[in-house]
Amino acid sequence: MQGDLERVLFDEPTILRRLDEIAAQISEDYRDRELTVIAVLNGSLMFMADLLRRIPLPLKLDCLSVASYHGKAETSGEVIFKQVAPPDVADRHILILDDILDSGHTLAAIREKLETANPRSIRVCVLLKKRKPRQRPVDANYVGFEIEDEFVVGYGLDFMERYRNLPCVGVLRKQLIRQPI
Ligand code: IMP
Ligand code: MG
Repeated sequence: MQGDLERVLFDEPTILRRLDEIAAQISEDYRDRELTVIAVLNGSLMFMADLLRRIPLPLKLDCLSVASYHGKAETSGEVIFKQVAPPDVADRHILILDDILDSGHTLAAIREKLETANPRSIRVCVLLKKRKPRQRPVDANYVGFEIEDEFVVGYGLDFMERYRNLPCVGVLRKQLIRQPI
């Protein structure tokens, strides 16, 4: 799998060191408020597991499942909610966790949907944020790393559902994106 990477951007120790910092920041910001974390599946699974174990606060955890890519390396702009019952967010302090902020369609759609259920506050935390203009006006309050506009995989991020279990984040070799594997 690692051989399919053009280069490694963040190895496991680098990711975990950065999670220590973000977790400390979140723990400080929410020390007086009970947090409800909503993790966006499947991409945020590794990130969620490693980050939340570094936050020594009482918190609730829920998950959302959406699809926006449909197996391609470009966004379709359409966000489909795959969950039947939406998580209970009324009157809670919500922290949305996602793997990557790319076009912004996914997080904008999730934010809008959760806002209709009257949470007390909503913040967004992503592992990665691409340096590029967003197609929807959405930003993240907590960001692991900013990256260039390249297609990356690993540590939860996939290409056609593969590579999620790579322990590092890396740029996928371009010829693998062009020719379906
Ligand atoms: P957005 O709606 O374009 O912001 O895309 C968000 C979703 O697209 C993420 O949650 C990922 O699942 C996927 N995505 C965007 N960029 C990448 C990438 O570089 N590698 C893998 N998945 C990506
Ligand atoms: Mg994905």
